[in-house]
Amino acid sequence: MNRKILVIGSSNTDMTVQASRLPRPGETVLGGVFTMGAGGKGANQAVAAKRLGGDAAFICKVGRDIFGDNSIRQYEAEGLDTSLVLRSEKPSGVALISVDKDAENCIVVASGANADLSAADIDNCSDAIHGAGILLMQLEIPVPSVLRAAETAHEAGVMTVLNPAPALELPAEIFRYISLFIPNETELSMYSGMPVTDERSAAVAARTMMEKGEERLIVTMGSKGALIVDADGCIGIPAFKVNAVDTTAAGDTFCGALCVALSEGKGVVEAARFASAASALAVKKVGAQNSIPSREEVESFLDNQ
Ligand code: RIB
Repeated sequence: MNRKILVIGSSNTDMTVQASRLPRPGETVLGGVFTMGAGGKGANQAVAAKRLGGDAAFICKVGRDIFGDNSIRQYEAEGLDTSLVLRSEKPSGVALISVDKDAENCIVVASGANADLSAADIDNCSDAIHGAGILLMQLEIPVPSVLRAAETAHEAGVMTVLNPAPALELPAEIFRYISLFIPNETELSMYSGMPVTDERSAAVAARTMMEKGEERLIVTMGSKGALIVDADGCIGIPAFKVNAVDTTAAGDTFCGALCVALSEGKGVVEAARFASAASALAVKKVGAQNSIPSREEVESFLDNQ
């Protein structure tokens, strides 16, 4: 089996402030500790895939600035293949993040160079897509680029995984190119047009998505666990109970970890349990890539359950 995981997506620098609560519109809240670190949904998923033992490469676009330089250095330190990290004349992506005492966050992203990763760039990387076993994507780069990558991978017989975050309108044809769709409850509700509040409603909404062409969905529901929905039925994966301090990148860690386990030939239930353990560990630390656990940490956590 081809174990190569190719992640195509965003690279950001995250500026995070912890506060007792998130501000309301027009309000200023005095916060606490400030941290700056590597983030971006694409980069977080690529780093998670690599740190958890995957054979991972990353395609993204950063600016010709200090944030871009630092990001590339960080990916190289992780051992990620960065030969396809591209440069833009726009500034590197930045995310402003607030985290409250219950570990919830709100995020505003200045996309910058991420918005410059074009369908033509994807065409230039088509050898990498053809050479992958799994292609993993999110929606912090332009939708036409995601569509082109998904179509190229689908035609090449590469397994395609889409984490539709942040939720954006998608062309209907993309659903035919995606092997595995990983939305959270809010995203699933938006794409299916149905309310999603629990496992039961998530299963109904996921079935609607399968009518649009999806083969399989895994709905991530935070502390309520995850739900796998495919032609064989629905299987709930319970969440591990941990003390959460920051949920940033929990979903990204789940997606990266899941792809690692699938690339090793694990079944989807075992892969989702591994991913769930990895994301449980991620919420115990502040930050995005800073919080992603190692393979050893996840295995020892699972051994102790
Ligand atoms: O999913 C978390 C990520 O979303 C952060 O790292 C931030 O950069 C935003 O892209």
